Amino acid sequence: MSLSQLARSIKPSPTLKLNEMAAKLREKGEPVIHLGGGEPKSKAPLDAILNCSAQLNTGEIRYAPADGLPAMKKAVIRYTEEHYDRLVAPENVIISSGAKQAIMVLLHAILEPKDEVLFPVPYWVSYPEMVRLAGGVAVPVRADDGSFHPRIEDLAEKVGSYTRAIIINSPNNPSGAMYSRDFVAQVVELCEKKNLWLVMDDLYNRLVFDGKKAPHAWEFAKDPPESSKLVVVQGVSKMYAMTGFRIGWAIANREVTEAMTNIQSHQTSGPVTVSQWAAIGALSGVQTSIETLRLTLENNRNVLIERLATIPGVKVTKPDGTFYAFPDFSAYSKDSMKLAEQLLDRVRVVVVPGREFGMDGHLRISYCGTIKEITEGVDRIKWALDPAAPNELFLGDRKLVRDWA
Ligand SMILES: Cc1ncc(COP(=O)(O)O)c(C=O)c1O
Repeated sequence: MSLSQLARSIKPSPTLKLNEMAAKLREKGEPVIHLGGGEPKSKAPLDAILNCSAQLNTGEIRYAPADGLPAMKKAVIRYTEEHYDRLVAPENVIISSGAKQAIMVLLHAILEPKDEVLFPVPYWVSYPEMVRLAGGVAVPVRADDGSFHPRIEDLAEKVGSYTRAIIINSPNNPSGAMYSRDFVAQVVELCEKKNLWLVMDDLYNRLVFDGKKAPHAWEFAKDPPESSKLVVVQGVSKMYAMTGFRIGWAIANREVTEAMTNIQSHQTSGPVTVSQWAAIGALSGVQTSIETLRLTLENNRNVLIERLATIPGVKVTKPDGTFYAFPDFSAYSKDSMKLAEQLLDRVRVVVVPGREFGMDGHLRISYCGTIKEITEGVDRIKWALDPAAPNELFLGDRKLVRDWA
């Protein structure tokens, strides 16, 4: 088959292989614990469901404008004023089918072939592939000290004549690390000085712990809005547990928003109308679900971190937010894919190999499940890795027997 060069250059996700293995084991009745997920388990807010079903009941579900329903834009404008203290116009807003599409159409709108896009390591798995799909070159930037916090010098060093944009995701998937106010201010300054686009992927910025608050780039942006190359991306997926509705948005200057809208209009047209009504319901309704989710995740994080600390040799950095931790398991294996496969094979626990996020030796462990899944999952991992552990592990009425060296 003669597939395009582009299609051949896009890597399949190794996680899919792990998920397939896990699904097969589950079908056989194996007690799989999934600590690899990327979505909260809570229900969508009631206001989202009511607003969505009222729309559905009319039976008139039509195309939405390519850049989103006016009512959805209004809800986003209100949200932006409340949470970013920024008044934007409808022409600055594009509603997309998930934050993912907002980022994708933005990259299509701003990249020339071979333009470079920088982002810190570890990074969300989709950034490199999305940049490639838009014809650009992905440039992951490692912190000099191997930490989750690159210094501004690490980024500045990689800026060259082909650099077009920087993507910052804070708090970060997979590390849960939140970049400091100083760092965000420095990135804004660097982008303004070098005339680069700055994409702030703020998807997790409401899921922050320990009384902290995520700094946002607009606090530091000097440019008047219409000449600013700052783009803020948000969505309902994580904060309202509405991943399946596929609604996200971007706030940007009018020129690029129009270009993104043109691209989106030929790609998918406007996002699903009923999903937008659900998102309007979520944004305009009772807001307690975000805080409930945030508190649950903070507690889950504490339980996970405490439990992981009992595994000798595993280095754990406490996440500031999100629902992921990214511990360093390199004392056991530098090959995170192999380690993830072993953990699934031996103790039926799914985790995501750090290699996918640009940091081998680490594993991404999600804590958006139940406390039971978290504690039992980590206990199984510990048992699998500890050569001095007893030969048998009892899981309810099932028994796992150590049959590896
Ligand atoms: C950092 C980051 N950005 C964007 C997205 C995409 O979110 P959406 O469901 O709104 O497309 C995800 C989803 O996992 C993510 O982790």
